[in-house]
Parts: sequence; C-alpha cells; structure tokens
Amino acid sequence: MGIKEKCKIIEFNDLGDERGKLVVIEGNISIPFEIKRVFYIYDSDNTIVRGQHANRKTDFVLINVAGKSKVRITNGKEEFVVELNRPMMGVYIPKMIWKDMYDFTPDSVLLVLANTHYDGDEYIRSFDEYLKEVEVD
Ligand code: TYD
Repeated sequence: MGIKEKCKIIEFNDLGDERGKLVVIEGNISIPFEIKRVFYIYDSDNTIVRGQHANRKTDFVLINVAGKSKVRITNGKEEFVVELNRPMMGVYIPKMIWKDMYDFTPDSVLLVLANTHYDGDEYIRSFDEYLKEVEVD
C-alpha cells in the first residue's frame, strides 16, 4: 500500500452552530483506533524540527487545533508533506512510519492522539535503524 493510502487525511465532522465550532473525536469512530494517550506540542517555532522517529507499536493522529505546522511522513521509499492548518483535519500516521514535524507557527498547538501508553523503548530514533527495520518488514 502506498504511503498516501496508509497515512490518511481525516476530515472531522463539524458539529458547530451559530455559537461556534465543535469537533468531536471518538476512538474507533472518527479515528481508526482506541485512544490511550493525548499530548500536545506548543511553543515550538519555524526553527524547530520535532518527531524524527518511528514507532514500532504506536499509531497516531495529529491535529493542529490552533495555528499551523507541517509533518513530513516517509516509509523510507516514498514521502509526503501534510500541512496541518485547520482544527477540523488530521493525519493518521500508523506504526513504522517515520515523521518529522516542523514549520510551527508561533500560535501552533499540535494535538496528538495515540493508541498506546508511552514507552520509550518502542521508539526508533535513528533513521538508519528505521531503514533496516522496514527492509525486513
Ligand atoms: P519526544 O518524543 O522527543 O517528543 P516529539 O513527540 O515531539 O518527538 O519527547 C520529548 C520528551 O518527552 C522525551 O523525554 C520523552 C517524553 N515523553 C513522554 O514521557 N511521554 C510521551 O507521551 C511523549 C510523547 C514524550
């Protein structure tokens, strides 16, 4: 499967009305996994690159709930860049995909949903090591 089919852009439903917008994300309904962990990244800027890892066990959905950032996604063979620039869109990044987040606007709040509790041992932080592991997949 190509990386764009695997790492899907998700458009969330807008439950907003004249009082404002409302986006609801329910595990296994609006995203393809049960949510076990939520974290958010802010106060980064356009000089910073975050991520720079792949995860052996974790699937993620990334959403800029405010501001903008970009995420470069690769499987070692193909890559693409997603601009996260609307609270109603997210990108699904399943396990064993390498990602770099960058170009954060000063107001960027990048919300991340994950299907695991944190375990530093399931992170692959060397791109060479990642390439070796995906070869044998
Ligand atoms: P890091 O993985 O570098 O963040 P990013 O997602 O931007 O790549 O994490 C920074 C630090 O925070 C690192 O010491 C690990 C810790 N951390 C946790 O303890 N739990 C978590 O869920 C995450 C994402 C990070």
